[in-house]
Amino acid sequence: MKYYFAPMEGITTFYFRKMHHKYFQGVDTYFTPFISPTMHGTFTPRERKDILPENNVGVPTVPQILANNPEYFLEVTKELRDYGYKEVNLNLGCPSNKVANKHKGSGLLSEHLKLERFLDAIFEKSVLPISVKTRIGRYEEEEWNYLLSLFNSYPIKELIVHPRVQKDYYKAPVHKELFLNTWQKSENPICYNGDLYSVKDIEKWKNDCETMDCFMLGRGLLTRPDMLTPENQACMDTLPPLGNSKAFWDFHDELEEAYFEELGNNTLYKMKELWIYQEKSFENVDKQMKKIRKAKNKQEYDFAIQELKSIYFN
Ligand SMILES: Cc1cc2nc3c(=O)[nH]c(=O)nc-3n(C[C@H](O)[C@H](O)[C@H](O)COP(=O)(O)O)c2cc1C
Repeated sequence: MKYYFAPMEGITTFYFRKMHHKYFQGVDTYFTPFISPTMHGTFTPRERKDILPENNVGVPTVPQILANNPEYFLEVTKELRDYGYKEVNLNLGCPSNKVANKHKGSGLLSEHLKLERFLDAIFEKSVLPISVKTRIGRYEEEEWNYLLSLFNSYPIKELIVHPRVQKDYYKAPVHKELFLNTWQKSENPICYNGDLYSVKDIEKWKNDCETMDCFMLGRGLLTRPDMLTPENQACMDTLPPLGNSKAFWDFHDELEEAYFEELGNNTLYKMKELWIYQEKSFENVDKQMKKIRKAKNKQEYDFAIQELKSIYFN
């Protein structure tokens, strides 16, 4: 079985990926948030920093590209090959209107001619194998039949499917029936992505798709970063409280320090964004969570964290 950490812009930075990989076993590959090449240069400084080999040492990483221009895609892929990467991932799922209206991400899915020309060019000339992360359509689930047969005509390393359309964003129910009825028609290896919040959720999908051996998780792993450790995978009951996990607090503290060195007071935004997910793994600590949310500087934040920790470690 293979488990992937989903790309999440602004959240799964190289700092995050490195710390997660250091403290929690179970993730086979981390996908970077998208790089969006433009004619002004292939990477922004922030994008470059995120994929520089020295910032990703020892962490199995696949860089993701958001593009609809084959030349930009191919140029970036060459640079990524020179950095030592062995695969690139194409983003055909981003639901943001700003992105989709520029015919990128999920916006490219409804531009059939443009999409076909783009895929023809990149699969003909890419110096690296390409995996694709896609939604099942831009507007309607009916688009999926066409898209799946189109994808079948390219040697896609892996087709990672998030069975929602653009307008579903991340909230509407996933189109489970459609996915179950079609995934075996893929001639490329398939990986499922969407709403996996526990080992039980994964088990249900494994039962429904018996030969599926690849799952990508995003919000579930942010909520429970230790979900895929061997102990937790073996645990079919409710997991022990996250607050009791020393690895979680070590992960938290080292990540905060790394962000602080880089970002100073902006560290709080990064840490608070993580707590939007992590707090769902904590019960009966509303007062402490409120203090974390309201912290105005590192001192107040650290104080709130200490108070929360002391509930679990006396
Ligand atoms: C804040 C946020 C940022 C995201 N950034 C990206 C991204 O850069 N590239 C991408 O392919 N998907 C991105 N996604 C989508 C996730 O990778 C994933 O497909 C989605 O969250 C559904 O999986 P989940 O239910 O396991 O979270 C993002 C999602 C969220 C919520």
